[in-house]
Amino acid sequence: MRKDVRILLVGEPKVGKTSLIMSLVSEEFPQVVPYRAEEITIPADVTPERVPTHIVDYSEAEQTDEQLSSEISKANVICIVYAVNNKKSIEKVSLAIVLEVLVPVILVGNKSDLVEHSSMETILPVMNQYTEIETCVECSAKNLKNISELFYYAQKAVLHPTGPLYCPEEKQ
Ligand code: GTP
Ligand code: MG
Repeated sequence: MRKDVRILLVGEPKVGKTSLIMSLVSEEFPQVVPYRAEEITIPADVTPERVPTHIVDYSEAEQTDEQLSSEISKANVICIVYAVNNKKSIEKVSLAIVLEVLVPVILVGNKSDLVEHSSMETILPVMNQYTEIETCVECSAKNLKNISELFYYAQKAVLHPTGPLYCPEEKQ
């Protein structure tokens, strides 16, 4: 059995990474957030898979590229967050994946409250191109839609990986 799971959130500025973490923790949408949330640890007994889970935020405004690389190398799963109403943040997803292929990736389309239409059509070609993407989910930190699901998928991607490129030897 694994002793813990480390989830890292990355993505363009302002897509809502910190808001997603704070929404999960407080079960309400925070009006004001810092650039970067403190690392949080969810105790085993309140996680779906009964494994202590660390959630790590990233902010370009507060962290260097070296710090990002270091966090990437420590992560067991990476959530690449984009905003469904921000085309540029979706385009940057492919770029992020290329750098981070050693662990499973979850694509997270945040701010689903702001659009009528799903971003799935845009994101599907990316999904098909990269086998390291375990799954994708659209969510909203604002109306708390799919927030707990997102962290559950991330946990599950580590504990029950399905991706053909996943190499258990690469990470402990
Ligand atoms: P950086 O730390 O600068 O990289 O940004 P971030 O990705 O952590 O985004 P942050 O959580 O600071 O949110 C950016 C802005 O988007 C804030 O004004 C949030 O209130 C807003 N926001 C975050 N999530 C949602 C959402 O689900 N829906 C809506 N409508 N707004 C959101
Ligand atoms: Mg932030």
